[in-house]
Amino acid sequence: MEKRRVKKVHIKSYGCQMNVYDSQRMGDLLGPLGYEAVAGPEEADLIILNTCHIREKAADKVYSELGKLRLLKQERAKQGGETVIAVAGCVAQAEGEEIVRREKSVDLVFGPQTYHRLPDLLKARVATGKAVVETEFPAEDKFAHLARTLPKRGVTAFLTVQEGCDKFCSFCVVPYTRGSEFSRPVTQIEAEARALVDAGVREITLLGQNVNAYHGAGPDGEISSLAGLITHLSRIDGIERLRFTTSHPRDMSDDLIEAHAENPKLMPYLHLPIQAGSDRVLKEMNRGHRAEEYLKLIARIRKARPDIAVSGDFIVGFPGETEADFEATLAVTREVRYAGAFSFKYSPRPGTPAADRADQVPEEVKSDRLARLQALLGTQQKDFNQACLGRQMPVLLEKPGRHPGQLIGRSPYLQGVYLDAKGHAIGDMVNVTIDAVGSNALSAHIHP
Ligand code: 5AD
Ligand code: SF4
Repeated sequence: MEKRRVKKVHIKSYGCQMNVYDSQRMGDLLGPLGYEAVAGPEEADLIILNTCHIREKAADKVYSELGKLRLLKQERAKQGGETVIAVAGCVAQAEGEEIVRREKSVDLVFGPQTYHRLPDLLKARVATGKAVVETEFPAEDKFAHLARTLPKRGVTAFLTVQEGCDKFCSFCVVPYTRGSEFSRPVTQIEAEARALVDAGVREITLLGQNVNAYHGAGPDGEISSLAGLITHLSRIDGIERLRFTTSHPRDMSDDLIEAHAENPKLMPYLHLPIQAGSDRVLKEMNRGHRAEEYLKLIARIRKARPDIAVSGDFIVGFPGETEADFEATLAVTREVRYAGAFSFKYSPRPGTPAADRADQVPEEVKSDRLARLQALLGTQQKDFNQACLGRQMPVLLEKPGRHPGQLIGRSPYLQGVYLDAKGHAIGDMVNVTIDAVGSNALSAHIHP
């Protein structure tokens, strides 16, 4: 009998961590169909771009990548090879048919809610000989259709527990591309967490667009909060660390703040975007809170867990933002003292309310404000790292370093830590003292 040829799949992820998770799950689904993952597109029989639509540049990158892949596909065809090109994720959801109209070499288009149908979509492509576009929001639970046993993973993994968003911030496409809020049941998440532990994982980051709005069915039939889910998962042997992202200030409940004080497996790191510091802008963004409320929240969280690393997201140049509004963003930033943050120029997204406003901020003003904010955030990040010098902390070893005997681990605050790891292996938790602070990472020695 002829041996079935191993097919190669290359999956490229853009944007958020949820896409990284989705890409991994697509890989899990394709394994049993005879696909093996490869790092580059050159040899691949199937190329999947798992796309992001959050800002304009993200979608532009996809079209330029598709242009390159078209040439690759033509080259391979000349040598008798066949390449299937698929566009997945939020650009696929938002653009649908438009993608196959604009780029004829694309074979499959499917949104974030339908990737569990990937094996069927591939079959449909072969059967019809035509491009297949699948962007509906199906009624079935896609998570129930994903692979149950997982191939070996690294030490850290993402686990999506909540998806979608009902907040409708006026700048954001997420409620349109990912749909309305949905929380997975606790037992389903627990089963996946256990499978991840069996696959070698020690640290799990729970993901959701609005993760702290989590309200899944609990094992006892009650609705569980995110704090309840964290308590439940932290009882699993083999899970050493839990994190969660991204949170909304409006859903930062008391029990979640408590969990940061009480649960030793929950890491002292909180990504809590404020977006802007001016109350007028926050209102027009439809954020549902004022700057003062955010600052009070941070103070309460710091009281519960004084060493917590706070990170955030910012948008500069939202329509109508004045210099005084922007200075309010700088003022809030100075008060919070972020350990790290992501900051972006406002990008009008078609279909969102803010995109139609006439008072768009000129590009050069946005650039100037972004540079000023990033300079401040950069200094704060350095200060946070510098304050770790001489401190002792546990580090989870994740991957090999550049030099022989060196491993790279992660601090509780999500910093990369280089160390000489003689006698220790990837997956070990070691106690270290921080010896030096570089621009991107810390270095440390292990306590004997
Ligand atoms: N323009 C710029 N940044 C945006 N974000 C979301 N939508 C936009 C937009 N239209 C940012 C927000 C969000 C992060 C994931 O992306 O800061 O928290
Ligand atoms: Fe977008 Fe706002 Fe929902 Fe976050 S909370 S996903 S920024 S709409």
